[in-house]
This record gives sequence, structure tokens and C-alpha cells, in this order.
Amino acid sequence: MDRLVIEGGVRLKGEVLVSGSKNSVLPILAATLMTDEPCVIRGVPNLRDVITMLKILRSLGKMADYVKGVVKVTQAGDPVLTADYKLVSTMRASFCVLGPLLGRFKKARVSLPGGCIIGVRPVDLHLKGLRALGAHIDIESGYVVAKASRLKGSYMYLGGVYGSSVLATDNVMMAAVFAKGKTVIESAACEPEIADLAEFLIKMGAKIKGHGTPIIEIEGVKKLHGCEHKIIPDRIEAGTLMAAALITKGDLNIKNALYPHLGAVIDKLEESGASIIKSSDSIRVRLRNKLKPINVTTLPYPGFPTDMQAQVMSLMTITSGISVITEKIYPDRFMHVAELNRMGALIQREGPHAIVEGVKGLSGAQVMASDLRASACLVLAGLAAKGITSISRIYHLERGYENLEDKLRGAGARIWREKE
Ligand code: UD1
Repeated sequence: MDRLVIEGGVRLKGEVLVSGSKNSVLPILAATLMTDEPCVIRGVPNLRDVITMLKILRSLGKMADYVKGVVKVTQAGDPVLTADYKLVSTMRASFCVLGPLLGRFKKARVSLPGGCIIGVRPVDLHLKGLRALGAHIDIESGYVVAKASRLKGSYMYLGGVYGSSVLATDNVMMAAVFAKGKTVIESAACEPEIADLAEFLIKMGAKIKGHGTPIIEIEGVKKLHGCEHKIIPDRIEAGTLMAAALITKGDLNIKNALYPHLGAVIDKLEESGASIIKSSDSIRVRLRNKLKPINVTTLPYPGFPTDMQAQVMSLMTITSGISVITEKIYPDRFMHVAELNRMGALIQREGPHAIVEGVKGLSGAQVMASDLRASACLVLAGLAAKGITSISRIYHLERGYENLEDKLRGAGARIWREKE
């Protein structure tokens, strides 16, 4: 296993390029199961989660080639309708093969994904939506077994205790593409990645309206065909790089970043003292004066993303004053607090709130990554800390950031890999 070592204290400067969106490409790859015809997807980031999804597609009867950011998916043999525990348990997004398989073949057997370090993560909304389309669903030996003689379009409200669900919206929207008649999903998730999936499905021949808003309407079709598509930029990677510019008092021009996808993040970073220049495909970020404390509450899109909560917490650790960070999507997503405190931060957790008292500086330490975004927050802390920070278990980082250390090194960071 590798660990990441960072010698902090360098102001990052220059240009960095954002990769294609992880959360966009994973359901889009699952959607290729909805046709026998070839699909070509461009701008695909080389991530551990993408490799896992390609393995899942191959296990379901597809051939999936991945060369230099382009994935080509073709039919290899008879479709397989069971997604195995070994693969699904490693990545929650793989559960979104359920909607495509059920929609197209009227039956599917998909392992339940299980919990993970950031919380329990149920799938009740996925199942509620699929049942509303007429599917009969049983849980058997850890698998969701879904069947339908035919799926029928219907009206449904898909909001949950914590608001809308991204992957449930994906799953239900994909199944509804093959349902007879019209489906209306109210309280659908509005994330740009949902809209990207809908655009992909429309290119395949689906009839979808309202994607990117809380009400999605789908008119069922009988068949989809192959298509080509380019994945949108990863807004969380862009946000992480914005935080990297600020925490190092640097100046980064972040290319392939779409500011309309980052409204809440830009707003909060400006409030904390960032100077942000937006152009059509890039965002330039530097410190205006001195960082100021901010209060942040995570919410479904277009609110502040939970996937940026850990990174903004890193930034607040060295911001003089008190910042309060409230997590409303995953109330237990605070594994990074203890690690940041090991680096000299002063953070106290009170239920779903983290109270951050800014300190003068962090000091490098040996820390452990617990999940994807927590890893990114430790990288940020390491960039700002005095001395050497060594982060173990960085395979979490490889799940969602393509060549992050190369990108940071290109902007001047002293960061390298070592064998544990
Ligand atoms: C997606 C993202 C993940 C992000 C999350 C929230 C992908 C591949 N992953 O995950 O990076 O952190 O959105 O923005 O896109 N919930 C239920 N019942 C359900 C489903 C979800 O109660 O059936 C709850 C969850 O526990 C959570 C909230 O709803 O509290 C939002 O979760 P959800 O949007 O489903 O997250 P994912 O789609 O799994």
C-alpha cells in the first residue's frame, strides 16, 4: 500500500486541469446496460471506482475497453442479470445497475451495497420508486430481487428524511425509461450529474424532461440505441482545488471547471475572503486579503455539497475565529475531525455540527484517510501544515481523484508517494 507524503508551506501557483466527473460517469456507465448497441463515453477519469464499474459491466455480459479517457462498451455475450456482492459491496454507486437491468429485462438481482464509514446509507428510496413503477421486490440473502411483468409509468414523491437522493433518482429514472406511459418523479435530486445522465439517456433515445429540477418527467420508450457522450467536469475536484489555492495562500487557474455547478461553494469561499474570477471554462482563485471564518450547512444541490464539507473544514482550521459546519446529509460524516486535530486543529464535534476554532497553523503529522473526501481534506491540511504530513490508506483518494498529486506537484506542491 502507498502513502502520500507532503512537505507543507508552498503557495500553489499556476494552472490545473479538472478531470471528468466521477459521480456522473458511474451511472452513465450503468446506463450502457440499457442497449445492446455500442456506447462511447469520453472524458472518463482514470479512477478506482471507474475500474470497478467496468468490472461490473463485464460481469453483466458487456465488453468494456478503456483507452486514454475513452470507454467503449459493447455487448459481449448474453446479458447477466445478477450483480454480485463482491463487486457491489466495494462501491455504492454500483447499485445503480438495478434500474437499467429491471427496466430493460424486467428482472434483476443486485447485491445490497451495505453501509460505509460515512453512515448507514439505506436504499429505501430506490426501492420505493421502483415499486411505484410496479416492480415486485424482495430481499433474499443480502440481494435485492426485483421482478415485474411490465413496468408502468406513475407519479411518485421521492424525497426522504435527508431530502432527495442522487442514486435513487438515477435508478428510478433509468427504470422509468422503459415503463409504459408517463412517470413523474417529484422531489428528484437536481445535481448536475443527474442532468448529465438524463442527457446521455436522451441521446440513447429516451424521452426525459425537467432533469436538473425537482420534477422529472419521463415518457416510456420500447428501445434505446448506442450513442457518444462527453462527461461533465468534476465539480467536487474543482472545489477541492479551489480550497487548495486558498489554504496555501496561492493563486490557481482551475481549467475545465464549470462555475454554474459550484454556486454554493463559490459563495462560501468568497465570503471567507477568496477572490474568484469566473470564465466560461475556468475559475481563478486566490486570497483577497485574509481568511475569515464562515458557517456552512451541507444540503442537497444547489446547496453546499456534503462532498466538500471535509475540505472546507480543513480551510477553516487555520482561519482565525469560530466557524460552524453543519452536516445535514450524512450526520456522521466527521471521521476527519480527529485526524485534523492530530495536526493541531481545534475542532469539537457536537452531533451534526463541527465547531472549528481557527489556529495559527497546523503541524505535519502521520494521519490516516478514512474515506474519499476525508483523504482530500487531509491533503489540503498537509499542504498548509508546517513540516511533513504522511497520509496512509490513500486508496480512498484514488477512488475519486485522478492524479491529484501530479496536478498539485504541477502547481508547485512538494508531494510524493512512498510505499508503506
Ligand atoms: C451521491 C454521491 C455522493 C454524495 C451523495 C450526497 C454518487 C455516486 N455519489 O451518493 O458522492 O455524497 O450523493 O450528495 O453520485 N438516503 C435515504 N434512502 C435512500 C437513499 C438515500 O435515506 O434510499 C439518504 C442517505 O442516507 C443520505 C441522503 O439520503 O442521508 C442523500 O443520499 P444520496 O443522495 O442517496 O447519496 P448517494 O446517491 O448514495
